[in-house]
Amino acid sequence: MDYQQIIDKIYHEVKPLFGHGKVADYIPALANVNPKQYGIAIATSDGRVFGVGDYKTKFSIQSISKVFTLTMVMHHYDEDLWESVGREPSGSPFNSLVQLEHEHGIPRNPFINAGALVITDRLMNLYPRPKESILNFIREMANSADIYYDHTVARSELECSDRNMALGYFMKSFGNINNDMDSLIDVYCNQCSVTMTCEELAKSFMYLVNHGENPFTGQRILSVSKAKRLNALMLTCGFYDESGEFAFSVGLPGKSGVGVGVVALIPGKLSIAVWSPELDKHGNSYMGITTLERFTTDIGKSIF
Ligand code: DON
Repeated sequence: MDYQQIIDKIYHEVKPLFGHGKVADYIPALANVNPKQYGIAIATSDGRVFGVGDYKTKFSIQSISKVFTLTMVMHHYDEDLWESVGREPSGSPFNSLVQLEHEHGIPRNPFINAGALVITDRLMNLYPRPKESILNFIREMANSADIYYDHTVARSELECSDRNMALGYFMKSFGNINNDMDSLIDVYCNQCSVTMTCEELAKSFMYLVNHGENPFTGQRILSVSKAKRLNALMLTCGFYDESGEFAFSVGLPGKSGVGVGVVALIPGKLSIAVWSPELDKHGNSYMGITTLERFTTDIGKSIF
């Protein structure tokens, strides 16, 4: 399949759609990003990489980092993890508080902010230097040492993290957070601030394409069963209250971030990352979702 030709065509068709969304401004440092940028990259299981547009430009991965932290924690935990975080779509916005009270501080799934905070909290119990470990893990998955935290973005989010703090304290009151809240929010804001290119992101999801094994090192990161579960969670919960719409129109497991990137994958075949800074009303990438919808339509393949 000539993936380069396919993404070149989609790029030129989708690019005129600039202006449909808006850049995330609740994290002030993200509001400064030039919205008129757009890149697509594909990494394939036979080791090829294709790219078009701004696919080598770094951007803030934000919630896409939740896939990496969940992987690190799932590596160590078995069934017991699901006692403290659920695996059902929430149908609510990514930073919603409403379900937590009825559900006794157990977040619906590990991708909404509340669930991601529980995962980062567990990760901090497992790794004595969590920030260093998260960065090393992402570098290994992407097969690149050139990946860093963006301290300006992390600081900016830390300064306006009242809602994430509220989620954290609320869950702590139910005993579902162990660490000190300032340290937890610091690690969480840093993991969200990691900057990567579409090319690096597409490559970094290859362990999930490859059923849990890092294709660059041959190292098993997750068992085949855990990799299946993580992909299933991305399919059902990766886009918050737009997850059903994403599954309906794209038909792939994937994850979004307010940075504003999207990654999706076809197990056994490829991973595709799209970046364009404008957000839709659910906090996902308008251009990214449109691009992926056209991609699965044009190649005639999804997981279904
Ligand atoms: O915690 C936050 O609100 C952000 N650091 C991450 C949110 C996010 O990326 C939601 N995804 N689309």
